Amino acid sequence: MNLTLSVIKADIGGYVGHSESHPDILEKARQCTDKAKKQGLLIDCCVTKCGDDLQLIMTHQGGESNEKIHKLAWDTFVDCTNLAKSLKLHGAGQDLLSDAFSGNVRGMGPGVAEMEFKEREAETVIVFMADKTSAGAWNMPLYKMFADPFNTIGLVIAPNMHCGFAFEVQDVKEHKTITFNTPEEIYDLLVFIGAPSRYMVKSVHHRESKEIAAASSTQRLALIAGRYVGKDDPVCIVRSQGEFPAVGEVVEPFTLPLLVEGWMRGSHHGPLMPVSVEDSTPTRFDGPPRVTSLGFQLSQGKLVGPRDMFADKSFDNARQQALDAADYMRRHGPFEPHRLPLEEMEYTTMPDVLKKLKGRFTDIKE
Ligand code: F6R
Ligand code: MG
Ligand code: MG
Repeated sequence: MNLTLSVIKADIGGYVGHSESHPDILEKARQCTDKAKKQGLLIDCCVTKCGDDLQLIMTHQGGESNEKIHKLAWDTFVDCTNLAKSLKLHGAGQDLLSDAFSGNVRGMGPGVAEMEFKEREAETVIVFMADKTSAGAWNMPLYKMFADPFNTIGLVIAPNMHCGFAFEVQDVKEHKTITFNTPEEIYDLLVFIGAPSRYMVKSVHHRESKEIAAASSTQRLALIAGRYVGKDDPVCIVRSQGEFPAVGEVVEPFTLPLLVEGWMRGSHHGPLMPVSVEDSTPTRFDGPPRVTSLGFQLSQGKLVGPRDMFADKSFDNARQQALDAADYMRRHGPFEPHRLPLEEMEYTTMPDVLKKLKGRFTDIKE
């Protein structure tokens, strides 16, 4: 059967501050999606959170960018925003950039990762969710999963993966897209995706079967709104096992707490710490940034799971490294590279300060 897996998320209000989602909000979202299940619009849905983001992991047969599914997500976010307002949660409705739904949530604030595929005999999928960072955070993990033999030994020794994978990369500033074939184009690919604030991996496909292997959300709220409105806090879906990397190869990249943008006021670099859903509570200096992962087996579209993949003890060292890196970065205070370069910061006082000091700048005499 052809199945669509849609992960749609939004920060519709934080509790306390931007550190978590309120349990009543999750309950409200469950009520909305349960109703859609009863009506037959959804096959199944897992409502969860990552930090202050509400996450809807949905299966259905409506295809990608389906108006009814996007409307359901939008209406759920609106209902949850109303509840968030009554609880006076922080930043209620912050990711809903428009007052009215117009057919598709893309470009309206919420983050979306979707893929349509024929369910395999055993369909293993892992959904990654991150808080206090942006979609470029998936670049290095996706590269490692699908193109780095030091991470994914299957690329070398599994006959059904040896052909390699194709990476679709988006330039979010110029709104352009390009596809690279790996392994032969990895040097060209890395020129771009090593600059994750501009070039983001949108999807990955198996080169022989052409099957979709991974899909990420690449919305950039700052670009959509033209001003600071919060972080993108991205999501990513990865299919696993068989002709795709094994579960262990899919989660392995997160043993490195890579430095990502998005910590405190969206204006700092910090380590991406892999945590259980329960521990996705970015609190210290509003962070450090978190990534969670939920694994499922799909059965006729039913989400069998979730299994909380990063709850596993084998990520304890990565967490410790992340905490050590967080201490080290914090000691830089307001200096780069902890603080983002001027043009990347989500908050800045620079125009005002420059204006105030305008008359005090004089030419340097050689
Ligand atoms: C939100 C975030 C936070 C906020 C900070 C200030 O995702 O990263 O660090 O930027 O708490 O928030 P406001 O401006 O809402 O008071
Ligand atoms: Mg928030
Ligand atoms: Mg968030």
